[in-house]
Amino acid sequence: MPAPANRLKTLPPYAFAVLTQRVRDLNAQGMDVIGLDIGSPDMPPPDIVIEALEESARHPGHHSYGGYKGTDEFRTAVAGYYQQRFGVTVNPETQILPLIGSKEGIVNLSLAYLDRGDLALVPEIGYPSYSIGAHLAGAEVYDIPVSEAGGYLPDFAAIPADALAHAKLLWVNYPNNPTGATAELDFYQRAVDFCDRHNLLLASDNPYVEVAFDGYIAGSALQAKDAMNCTIEFISFSKSYNMAGWRLGAAVGSTEAIKTLLQLKSNMDSGHFRPIYDAGVIALEQVSREWIDERNAIYQRRRDRILETLPQIGLTALKPKGSLYIWAHVDEGDGAQYAEAALTHAHVSVAPGEIYGAAGKNHVRLSVGIPDNRLEEALTRLKKWYASP
Ligand SMILES: Cc1ncc(COP(=O)(O)O)c(C=O)c1O
Repeated sequence: MPAPANRLKTLPPYAFAVLTQRVRDLNAQGMDVIGLDIGSPDMPPPDIVIEALEESARHPGHHSYGGYKGTDEFRTAVAGYYQQRFGVTVNPETQILPLIGSKEGIVNLSLAYLDRGDLALVPEIGYPSYSIGAHLAGAEVYDIPVSEAGGYLPDFAAIPADALAHAKLLWVNYPNNPTGATAELDFYQRAVDFCDRHNLLLASDNPYVEVAFDGYIAGSALQAKDAMNCTIEFISFSKSYNMAGWRLGAAVGSTEAIKTLLQLKSNMDSGHFRPIYDAGVIALEQVSREWIDERNAIYQRRRDRILETLPQIGLTALKPKGSLYIWAHVDEGDGAQYAEAALTHAHVSVAPGEIYGAAGKNHVRLSVGIPDNRLEEALTRLKKWYASP
């Protein structure tokens, strides 16, 4: 066999794949491991979405290629969602592109914009695909420092001039994975102004925009003034409508960036399955605010159960207003040691913070995407283990 391409050597083993394999091995040995590490909703999508998929799939004409730009109806529905939800007007012909999950869009945007010698500006704690995409493209990453004190928002003024000279993309993500941090319009405005000034494309990864608690309503980077000139935003049906396995998302924003992403993608994939687009339209147009609020109330209750248990299991965290996660500081040792001990002794899997960057070393991430009874069992096991390790 020939050797794999060198570009693969720049990639760490995908940390979640490694963790999942470890859990699988333990399960195969007869252990019942409970995963608090997962970033996938545990509840199903609304029935009307599943019914739309079924109905569309029965249509004999819906089984050919779905089209590089998806269906007109899908793009129109995304435009309608942006108008209604954020008051943002987008052209469905030129400013929207469907994605096969937002992860695909993140990596492909990096391939579309970055060459060797270029830089992506990436918050030092964040979703790994921003850096992975840059490395696959042969480019480098500048890690922007973020801190709890700074609300996990990057301080643009601290990015050195020599990094800016080579940078093309700036990644932001609020509500944030893994920290649960949120951002307001003034932050997005500063990000847009900064990108405008430095000839950068602002990439706002926004899959958790509909996962929020305590009445909080998350916004879009495209609400900032002049955002459409230099911003692309990714939304995802995975977390908004519990459709993670369906692999549906959309890129929205700058005409130029959408055109560039389409140029790359039309050479790599042939769009999605038509019934998935049709179900996506129903999700955007017919799933009620009440359905989203009820789902979020369940997550919020689980969040609060985890938060009240943390002092008994050696962890400390802020209360997140959004996302599926609790980003907890480990009182003793580091996140990897904590995760290993919890897995070995309590058979509970949590995500070590270093998966999200070296600066996350002393944290672990816990997810609320787990059924109530399993969550209770996991918390009971963790308490028992921590009381007598
Ligand atoms: C911040 C962030 N962005 C993107 C994704 C990818 O989502 P999907 O590809 O399912 O749309 C995830 C998934 O966990 C995520 O946490």
